[in-house]
Amino acid sequence: MGSVRYRAVPRYYITTPIYYVKDAPHVGHAYTTVNADALARWHRLIGDEVFFLTGTDEHGQKVARAAEEQGLSPLEWTDQLAPRFAEAWADLDIANDDFIRTTEPRHRDAVQHFLGRINDNGHIFKDTYRGLYCVPCEQYYAEDELVDGDRCPIHRIPVEHLEEENYFFRLSAFEQPLLEWYESHPGAVVPESKRNEALSFIKGGLRDISITRTSIDWGVQVPWDERHVFYVWYDALINYLTAIGYGRDEERFEAWWPAVHHLIGKEIIRFHCVWWPAMCMAAGIDPPAHVQVHGWLLLGGEKMSNSSVNQISPADLSAEYGVDPVRYHLLRDIPFGSDGEFSAEGIAGRYNADLANNLGNLLSRVATVVGSKCGGTGPAPDPTSRLAGVAATVLAEATEAWNAGQPHLALEVTWRLIRETNAELEIAEPWKAEPGAAVDAVLGSALEVLRIVSILIVPAMPATAQEIWRRIGLEGSPADRRLPGAAGWGGYEAGRPVEKGAPLFPRRRG
Ligand code: ME8
Ligand code: MG
Repeated sequence: MGSVRYRAVPRYYITTPIYYVKDAPHVGHAYTTVNADALARWHRLIGDEVFFLTGTDEHGQKVARAAEEQGLSPLEWTDQLAPRFAEAWADLDIANDDFIRTTEPRHRDAVQHFLGRINDNGHIFKDTYRGLYCVPCEQYYAEDELVDGDRCPIHRIPVEHLEEENYFFRLSAFEQPLLEWYESHPGAVVPESKRNEALSFIKGGLRDISITRTSIDWGVQVPWDERHVFYVWYDALINYLTAIGYGRDEERFEAWWPAVHHLIGKEIIRFHCVWWPAMCMAAGIDPPAHVQVHGWLLLGGEKMSNSSVNQISPADLSAEYGVDPVRYHLLRDIPFGSDGEFSAEGIAGRYNADLANNLGNLLSRVATVVGSKCGGTGPAPDPTSRLAGVAATVLAEATEAWNAGQPHLALEVTWRLIRETNAELEIAEPWKAEPGAAVDAVLGSALEVLRIVSILIVPAMPATAQEIWRRIGLEGSPADRRLPGAAGWGGYEAGRPVEKGAPLFPRRRG
């Protein structure tokens, strides 16, 4: 810990929350996962060494009860459900490097090692807990946090009385260290409003927290007291360490930690921005470098959730609109950090405006006119084209937005290049002109824009990027290019066959 090593290649470790396997994933889960995938793909494009982790959270009362309702053992149940997450992500073209399940032996070992360290360091003690517990939240509530008397503020169902002997983590001892850590790491939690939320929670005073249960046995056993299992949140957070070799491969662990980028929804700030850094300190490792908090996908003003009837499956959506349009919509329409309403009109509108009328239209008109005026062979870009400057500005601004974890801005900027190129074509009207140098220059520049755009959209729409690349006659994959070099104006070589295929994004009605 603490030693700064020189690295030739920067590393980028990105994680999603591990999702409860209570049901199949819904679009809310897909929202975080697609954003993480896009950021991972962006960092691969700029040449970083990337490790992208997602997975499933399989212990705890919530999962045990869901299994029981199905007449299955918890493990039988999670064995059925975990693959549905992995499949949903494969269907959405998610390129995660690892998929962790908290029921795996590697995770049990990491949890026991990590919590053993905290115990050895004297931050764990035993006491009796009496509290009000919400099972869907897997969380105790104080009386003044409840609504309508005895109801959980999130699920609006009555909380349950629990009383049992528990081991406690001395979170109260970390109030001051946490405040100092926030002070010295101003960018650790973004956006700032969420950092302030975490800070005011800490300043409000931290109570010690119960971290084990004896009333259930579906969890990781406490190594020094076999009657107890760890509370699900305590086990879950440690997944971020398990996957990079914590307790097994010290060298690998040190290569990736603490330079992690955790993406989370805003309802789990307390766990990731208060408990988790304190636990890391207690175990003698650095807290995570970054937590990026995002808002909720809403449906009719309500958070899309496992318990709501209105959840939408990612598979249904991509069957209707296509995988890349769904990815694009999630990245482009709901600014990463705010809540956003999900609607069929929203996705269809974005599809027609950006994909059918802009990107798809640019590709098809360029391919058509190259066919009719250039015999289907791509001409060279014009080195003096005004679009060269636009492309350079767009690259710089898109880079800044992606690096700041703002996919919606990066894509907004990228579409400026597409729109400007369509506008140039409308002024030059090469389809009306006689074949010759002027037509070649306009079309060559438009092909060059398509080449650059296909690299820039790899993070959002990898299959579309590949298809455009292929149709304009390029070999290999845009994902294998490296930015910023590959986006330099003039990379498109004349003489390549340009294919006039079916529309990439046929216009949708209504
Ligand atoms: O909290 N809008 O799992 P979970 C945006 N197992 N994001 C949403 C969303 C919505 N409507 N619904 C879900 C857990 N998400 C724990 C996490 S991590 C150590 C343990 C996304 O299945 C968002 O990322 O309830 C949110 O934080 C996460 O799914 C919660 O998934
Ligand atoms: Mg939840």
